[in-house]
Amino acid sequence: MKSGRLVFTTDFAALKDCDVHFICVGTPQTKGSLAADMTYVNAALDAVAPHAKPGSLVVGKSTVPVGTAQRLHDRLKKVSPQADLAWNPEFLREGFAVEDTLRPNRLVVGVTNDSSENILKEVYKDLLAANIPWIRADLPTAELVKVAANSFLATKISFINAMAEVCEAANGDVTVLAQAIGHDPRIGSRFLQAGIGFGGGCLPKDIRAFMARADELGARQALEFLREIDSINLRARQRMIELVRADLSEDLKGKKIAVLGAAFKPDSDDVRDSPALDIASQIHSAGADVIVHDPKAIENARARFPRLGFAQSIEECVKDADLVLHLTEWKEYRALDPVAVKKLVKNAIVIDGRNHLDREKWLAAGWKFRALGRTHHN
Ligand code: UDX
Repeated sequence: MKSGRLVFTTDFAALKDCDVHFICVGTPQTKGSLAADMTYVNAALDAVAPHAKPGSLVVGKSTVPVGTAQRLHDRLKKVSPQADLAWNPEFLREGFAVEDTLRPNRLVVGVTNDSSENILKEVYKDLLAANIPWIRADLPTAELVKVAANSFLATKISFINAMAEVCEAANGDVTVLAQAIGHDPRIGSRFLQAGIGFGGGCLPKDIRAFMARADELGARQALEFLREIDSINLRARQRMIELVRADLSEDLKGKKIAVLGAAFKPDSDDVRDSPALDIASQIHSAGADVIVHDPKAIENARARFPRLGFAQSIEECVKDADLVLHLTEWKEYRALDPVAVKKLVKNAIVIDGRNHLDREKWLAAGWKFRALGRTHHN
């Protein structure tokens, strides 16, 4: 900012001298439908188009239904015929945005001609020099790469959660199973952490929007499996609630339940579609007294679920608890001393919804230990 090369403004007229315009707005799920809400992307394009000078490039980064880029390209050309449009999806993970921007594992550019590609090569000159793979695609393929990648990740998580269900039925242990299959490099061990499943602002809404778009394109059957991925994912939350009920003789009324974790994943304060908060609020609706702790996401959680109880410290959260639920795998929770925590609770029962606590340590401290996809130990 001091150098004058980074400036913030709400004035669209300030765009008139720019060579490249990135559109990075969100595409949340539409209320009452699986489809993505395109209001913000459309509004951004319409705001930029009149100010896009000849030779400038509008670059879409948002995750959109395939076909959007071509539609926006045509819309831009009507207003500024000498400007062009490209699609350059991002693959940022929350909590690693800077890392993923400065050291992405690939760059994907959807373009309609060489000069658009050359502009993007200039933008990403340093990354190209660092040999980051560069993939040139057409507009629809570039759009599809993003949703295909997220669908694959969602599938991998639901696959291991389906295995967790089978392990429960067969007295197996999903954590050992995941470790064992993960050694096969064709499978790989990442994204095989079984538990209460995926949430956040991307995976859930992206697989739903992808299904909705495939439907429109007449390719419904091809993505039918994603419906199952979505149901396995939501079922994991219900299985967690069943474990809670099983340990509290079905009746949750008046029971004090400590919930460790509110964010949809650790290292983020994002609570959009958080499995942890979904479970906390369902248990609360069933009559339990729920106290939630999170190192970063309390304020966001309170804004969404004002009726839940919140604690600033782990000690306050677990005090006199009938049951402790571990729902977001922050490192603080793994570092807890189960001997010390046991002195604070009413009943020493913990359910690990993320398969991330050290089970042997908790058992040795005299806790009843439950987890999804693993046999129970008392
Ligand atoms: C995701 C994609 O990873 C990223 O490339 C894309 O750009 C945006 O969407 P993000 O939403 O930040 O990123 O979260 P991610 O790390 O993918 O985790 C998504 C969810 O899956 C979290 O709720 C996490 O707890 C859950 N998860 C992840 C599992 O349940 N098991 C796993 O093994 C991995």
